[in-house]
Amino acid sequence: MVEHRTRNKTIRLSSEEIEQLELRLLNLNHNVGIEEITNRIINQNILAVTQFLPEKSVDLLFLDPPYNLTKTFNSNVFHSRSYQKYQEIFELWLKSLVPLLKDTASVYICSEWSTSNAIFEVANRYLKIQNRIVWQREKGRGAKKNWKNNSEDIWFCTVSNKYYFNVNAVKLRKKVIAPYRTAAGKPKDWQENHAGDRYRMTCPSNIWTDLTVPFWSMSENTPHPTQKPEKMLAKIILASSKVGDIILDPFLGSGTTAVVAKKLDRKFIGIELDPYYCCLALKRLNNAETDKRIQGYADGQFWERNTFAYQK
Ligand SMILES: C[S@@+](CC[C@H](N)C(=O)[O-])C[C@H]1O[C@@H](n2cnc3c(N)ncnc32)[C@H](O)[C@@H]1O
Repeated sequence: MVEHRTRNKTIRLSSEEIEQLELRLLNLNHNVGIEEITNRIINQNILAVTQFLPEKSVDLLFLDPPYNLTKTFNSNVFHSRSYQKYQEIFELWLKSLVPLLKDTASVYICSEWSTSNAIFEVANRYLKIQNRIVWQREKGRGAKKNWKNNSEDIWFCTVSNKYYFNVNAVKLRKKVIAPYRTAAGKPKDWQENHAGDRYRMTCPSNIWTDLTVPFWSMSENTPHPTQKPEKMLAKIILASSKVGDIILDPFLGSGTTAVVAKKLDRKFIGIELDPYYCCLALKRLNNAETDKRIQGYADGQFWERNTFAYQK
């Protein structure tokens, strides 16, 4: 128990910190230029604020809306509703965000299996759907009368067919199981490092099995109930944006997108309804001033889940 407490790295806020950090949040009631909101967090409802933001200014939009489940997000509860009603609210959100996108922008939308179709149908009306990523969530309770739900979707969309995608930035380092050699005895399509580790840099597929949902001993962990892993955002940001690009996350939560954008030298705009989550995001951004590490991504490479042990 004592060991658990001392190793618990969850980021928390004191009331003094909240008081200080809240002063840095934006609340908009007039049209703004991009410079006024770059690298800032807006503490408002999406639907109350998108009308004030500059059109065609965003290179990458990451959407992680509340899923269609009843869930408490600190000061607000999102209530589960019918498929139809969920689709309607998602459409309102997306419709208000589309004008903010550049013609070359990419959009990633998170969802879970039962409403993934609702998201697909709406996204298909406003965007070009390029792919569906399925990622494995290691966490989760086993079910007695069903298959344990162990995956989530991310819809990868673009505004047009002219978009940026850098596959070389997101290759996955994989341990070589069958180390074939050429007739001359040279490694065929793999490499060996000084320590004798054999690995191959592979093109990433749309099935992601290398992510770890943040938990108490990870330094990125916060009390936010649905925090996404920094490694997930690193893949999306490196594949679909360039250094200096503008990344918008209007369901910012604990700030994962903003923090990874900062660590990877991109610019961000965050929108979040709950002030406590906004402050958590600001504290993480402060930490990122001095610590730019992203768990699972090191030396410009993505590592398989829990394989850091064989890095050195
Ligand atoms: C699924 S969570 C996002 C988690 C985030 N990706 C992270 O890594 O921490 C959704 C967030 O959207 C916020 N939210 C819900 N409705 C909103 C709205 N209408 N406008 C702005 N934020 C909203 C919630 O407070 C919650 O923090």
